[in-house]
Amino acid sequence: MTGSGADLPSGRPSGLVGRDVAHYRIDAEVGRGGMAVVYRATDLRLGRTVALKLLAPELARNDTFRKRFAHESRVAAAIDHPNIVPVFEAGETEGLLYIAMRYVPGQDLRALLDRTGPLPVATAVRIAVQVASALDAAHAHDLVHRDVKPGNVLVAEGTDSDRPEHVYLTDFGLTKKSLSLTGFTSVGQFVGTLDYVAPEQISGRPVDGRCDVYSLGCVVYETLTGAPPFRRDDDMALLWAHQYDPPPPLSDARPGLPPGMDGVLAKALAKAPEYRFDSCMEFVTELRRAATAEDHGGDGVRGEARGDGPGDVRGDVPPPPTGPPPPPPAPPLWALPVFRGGGPPP
Ligand SMILES: Nc1ncnc2c1ncn2[C@@H]1O[C@H](COP(=O)(O)OP(=O)(O)OP(=O)(O)O)[C@@H](O)[C@H]1O
Ligand SMILES: [Mg+2]
Repeated sequence: MTGSGADLPSGRPSGLVGRDVAHYRIDAEVGRGGMAVVYRATDLRLGRTVALKLLAPELARNDTFRKRFAHESRVAAAIDHPNIVPVFEAGETEGLLYIAMRYVPGQDLRALLDRTGPLPVATAVRIAVQVASALDAAHAHDLVHRDVKPGNVLVAEGTDSDRPEHVYLTDFGLTKKSLSLTGFTSVGQFVGTLDYVAPEQISGRPVDGRCDVYSLGCVVYETLTGAPPFRRDDDMALLWAHQYDPPPPLSDARPGLPPGMDGVLAKALAKAPEYRFDSCMEFVTELRRAATAEDHGGDGVRGEARGDGPGDVRGDVPPPPTGPPPPPPAPPLWALPVFRGGGPPP
């Protein structure tokens, strides 16, 4: 490449525009996150437009991350699914890791929510179904996303009024939480949002696809109410809340939703994976059923999911335990919820 990479990811936004990185010509910056900058670029060999993600140089120096990046990019590239951003190439050039993928015109769900606030129930369900389908496909390849959040859900225009939006999930294996088991960097700083992180990720227990069920639950909660289930003024308190505090019922934050939706979200957000839905499709199938319950003579979800959703990729998983989960310990003072007043979010 012609740029040094030293201005990634916090340097001048346009520092690389017009330059070549590997065999890509950088056309424009489309956005940046905590550890990467994403550009619209032209693949000079094929003449097609791509999204080129350049990872911060310090990630290339982290051996664990490099190995995981290489492995998970390969797995993600092998998954051919309409709701997963196709990966064209992952590589390294002059000490910079990059990933070239389909350029998705549109915006991510974070930007959409920031602009419009909570979405209509039907829209939220349509988006959730597409993300769930992508996640179950990944789980079938033994790939857990680990960083499901609105910023990683790209929303493009759909094909017709039946499908007004086409949703792509991106960033498999790129979670900053993979930098170390605890998710803290070498300077002791947690990078990335804690709004969607599953309890077992926080406590360092083994994760499987059900951690993505939890994060998807948080995302769905936010698309319906405008805010994730837990909001605390302090990171430690937020981590505590994910692990021990019961999520506030959906209908508290958005009164008037079909009542069965509360139970579905509560199950997706269960603290222990074995109390959640076994697959993302099972979750969103129940969500859709509850959301449309009134149209079907009140046949909504009442706490227990029926488990007959399509796409359950783990048919050999034992049934979830019966009875209520064990009560959480009492929170320390610093972890108590902070009441901001003013009631539910707008
Ligand atoms: N394939 C793509 N096509 C078009 N835009 C994309 C593509 N991939 C990512 N983007 C955009 O690039 C921006 C930066 O993405 P990036 O993954 O670096 O950050 P993020 O996911 O928002 O945050 P984080 O650093 O926490 O992962 C996002 O706004 C996203 O919408
Ligand atoms: Mg991202």
